[in-house]
Amino acid sequence: MSLEFNKIAAAVLTAGVAFMGAGIIGEVLMKPKALERPAIALGTTPTDATPREAAVVAPPPAPELAPVAPLLAAANPDTGRTLAQRACAACHSFNEGGRNGVGPNLWGIVGAKHAQVAGFNYSDANRALADKPWDYEALNAFIANPRAAMPGTRMAFAGLANPQQRADLIAFLRTLSNEPVPLP
Ligand code: HEC
Repeated sequence: MSLEFNKIAAAVLTAGVAFMGAGIIGEVLMKPKALERPAIALGTTPTDATPREAAVVAPPPAPELAPVAPLLAAANPDTGRTLAQRACAACHSFNEGGRNGVGPNLWGIVGAKHAQVAGFNYSDANRALADKPWDYEALNAFIANPRAAMPGTRMAFAGLANPQQRADLIAFLRTLSNEPVPLP
């Protein structure tokens, strides 16, 4: 009787130890490793010629943002207006003399210097660029990823990854002027 009990107890104990051991070994073997970079890079074109194996061994550095200039001639400002209403209008007005909201009024932004709208409380990061114009590529980079393009910006917008959408949006911003800047 007590021998039987001992056998059962030993079996239970052994099972428990084995189970625990398996757990520890499992954890060591399977230790999850955080990805160094996202498996899917948003906003990159799928035409990357790098072989997959090479990418696994040594991930290439993030590709430079492709210039928006070649897309502008065929970009659609009406599509851009719709996008702007959806993605930007919560913070920005677009009409001449429009009010500043969470973000500054954007009338005449293409070609204007950074941080030039009177009475708007810009970040130091943007003010530091006050002698630089908002040219097409500066807008492209900022809209693609505000925080990467201007570390310290107060613009709390995640970014627009799609190059065509950025081109349409910038084509719309270009129309916000009595004398639109020439296309590149
Ligand atoms: C959540 C609010 C918010 C949204 C959404 C937003 N912005 Fe902004 N935007 C800001 C703020 C705040 C600033 C001032 C940034 C600074 O000074 O660092 C700004 C600045 C800018 C500037 C620079 C203006 C200047 O005078 O220097 C541009 C250009 C701009 N935004 C474009 C856009 C576009 C295009 C969109 C839509 C794709 C957008 N923003 C969406 C809040 C926003």
